[in-house]
Amino acid sequence: MKVLFVDSCTKEGMASRTRRLCRIFLDEWKKNHPDYEVDTLVLKEEGMIPLTEEDIVRRDDLVRAGELSHHMFHSARQFAGADRILIGAPYWDLSFPSMLKVYIEHIFVNGIAFAYEGSRSVGRCSAEKLMYIQTAGGYVGDNEPGSIYLEAVCGMLGIPGFRYICAEGMDIQEIDRERQWSEAVERTVREAKQW
Ligand SMILES: Cc1cc2nc3c(=O)[nH]c(=O)nc-3n(C[C@H](O)[C@H](O)[C@H](O)COP(=O)(O)O)c2cc1C
Repeated sequence: MKVLFVDSCTKEGMASRTRRLCRIFLDEWKKNHPDYEVDTLVLKEEGMIPLTEEDIVRRDDLVRAGELSHHMFHSARQFAGADRILIGAPYWDLSFPSMLKVYIEHIFVNGIAFAYEGSRSVGRCSAEKLMYIQTAGGYVGDNEPGSIYLEAVCGMLGIPGFRYICAEGMDIQEIDRERQWSEAVERTVREAKQW
């Protein structure tokens, strides 16, 4: 059984609060799931670039030819084959760093992550659950666009259990940030126990 951790954090190591929260989540969760292997994909090391028209034509040709084992589809196969998925990303400009969107472009492959049955698209991913962990400088409110988008991605790709945790107010000087952080950690541990 495999958990895919899509690390979309931009800072190095534990300088990233978001990565710290993801680590807390995984460490707690592993206590009850020692048999799972965690595959970590550090997006900033992957150097994925936005798809060009040429890439799309090549991709469509490969899909039509049934060449789904082509290396171009490695990320899509890894995502679609994972049993659980954790995505960690800081809150940037009302959603998340663009490398996460670029990653999603790369995994959204017709025939791997989803497929058409007649005119209807059907999710083809194995994961039952996807957890999205975020930290934000300010308050994100109830309709945070990045989490709404990622929940929709799960809907399309056939992943029923979307969950979302956000540690808010991390850069607001006037509030008790330590308390804010501890509450986020408590929630993360609770979620990990139930995941
Ligand atoms: C480029 C950039 C954009 C950001 N945009 C927002 C924003 O729109 N709203 C907000 O509340 N915080 C914003 N922040 C602050 C981060 O969300 C916050 O510092 C977060 O905890 C960083 O997580 P990290 O330590 O994992 O990088 C932004 C930070 C950066 C560097």
